[in-house]
Amino acid sequence: MKQQLLLNLDPQIKPLFLRIATAVRLAVKQGVLKAGEVLPSARNLAQQLATNRHTIMAAYQELIAQGWLESSQRRSYRVVTTLPIESSQILAQSTHKAVNKFSWPAKVQSFSGPGIANSWNYEFSFVGGVSDINAFPFKEFRSCMADCLSRPGLSDLGYGSKQGDELFLTQISEYLRRKRGLTNKALVSVNGSQEALFLIAHLMLEPGDKVAVEALGYKPAWDAFKAAGAELLGVRQHEAGIDLQHLEGLFRAGGVKILYLTPLHQYPTTIVIPIRERIEIYRLAAEFNVIIVEDDYDHEFHYDSQPLAPMAADDPCGLVIYLSTFSKIMFPGCRIGVMAIDESLLEAVVNYRTVMNHKPNVLIQNAIGRWMEYGGFERHLRRMTRLYRQRRDAMDESLRQLQQQGFKLDYKLPAGGMALWVDIGQQANDLSQLCHQHSIYLQPESHFHLRPQQDQNRHIRLGFAGMDAEKSRLGLQQIFHYHQLLVG
Ligand SMILES: Cc1ncc(COP(=O)(O)O)c(C=O)c1O
Repeated sequence: MKQQLLLNLDPQIKPLFLRIATAVRLAVKQGVLKAGEVLPSARNLAQQLATNRHTIMAAYQELIAQGWLESSQRRSYRVVTTLPIESSQILAQSTHKAVNKFSWPAKVQSFSGPGIANSWNYEFSFVGGVSDINAFPFKEFRSCMADCLSRPGLSDLGYGSKQGDELFLTQISEYLRRKRGLTNKALVSVNGSQEALFLIAHLMLEPGDKVAVEALGYKPAWDAFKAAGAELLGVRQHEAGIDLQHLEGLFRAGGVKILYLTPLHQYPTTIVIPIRERIEIYRLAAEFNVIIVEDDYDHEFHYDSQPLAPMAADDPCGLVIYLSTFSKIMFPGCRIGVMAIDESLLEAVVNYRTVMNHKPNVLIQNAIGRWMEYGGFERHLRRMTRLYRQRRDAMDESLRQLQQQGFKLDYKLPAGGMALWVDIGQQANDLSQLCHQHSIYLQPESHFHLRPQQDQNRHIRLGFAGMDAEKSRLGLQQIFHYHQLLVG
């Protein structure tokens, strides 16, 4: 029996019996106490640690419950003879070599990964499409959250209402009817549009099916289709929209199940695909039996006119799946989006979603529902649209000043969205890298190409929503100063 036991007691751990139990467990793990070894009696250890016998007994009982100790009839306590910790050590001893780290067969290599997630760490972040979170009315929204906790809609808190929180769906349906002209679609709330994309991809696609996407586009959506085994086909674009002939050729060749589009503020160029082309795209999709997934990710922010009607608003064949997100209106971390689908698809979508998640978080939805009900949501939207319009105009002004100073750059002022697509002629990739080294985040066009060989290395995307006008002006000066250094 060990009469003296040297224990490493961590004063942070409370209460005392847990501190002692943790220290004994550590002693076993480190080999200070061996398997089968008898511990000092409770009285003895209590004396060593200047505490009472009951505390030690409580620590020993805790370790018995956790499977580290056992007690014998003679009331002594010993370390169990087969310790889990020892079995992994035995593996190393028996093979006489280091245990190799397990290698997981996960299918992640070909996906893009978290993308822009770390752009917050930069002093100047020109990431496109990220809202100004500082401008979010947290105080106001807090009262909606508090309200929904003090007067909860109990029926929605269980496993029922799988489409989403009832109040939220009523409010969003009313909003989409008034503002987006959506009248004959069923709504399902989702944890952001990414979840909807994943769901659609797995529900609609067989491995080897083809999905047509904008050749310059949104990689996270492509990843969702690839994850379902789809082959991606890039649809050629021209300066002002989609190459319809090319699209028709792809459809004619067969096998295309889905066309994924960002038609209103094309991602990443922010151009609006003209109405004539949108109608023709719809006609072709109907002719060739192709589902259109319309990602209407930042429709609220349209500055030169009222927001444009989405393709889903005029969908007599019911072939458009419409996606909307709160990531731009609120912030990406809220993970709320809405999928508007033909009624005939509703049951399949809800049943399939239930396989991966019973339902989305109803508390945040319910708080948003309350926010919408009393008009706070739309007031916030009007405020943000005004703010972003000012920031777009301020960026336009700063870029024109840079042009006047002789910097070579070209762009079309977008009618909406949260970013500008700027042609700097050359070295976009080097510029982006150099900027990153100086704590400026921007994305070159290579981040958005389906086929890397199509990179012309001449465009950068400059988000204007996330920073105030003065900060953005200072950042732009630095960007073009670095570009000057590169091109000489
Ligand atoms: C084209 C596009 N779709 C959707 C989203 C939003 O995705 P989520 O709703 O999953 O946050 C973004 C955000 O950057 C986007 O750029």
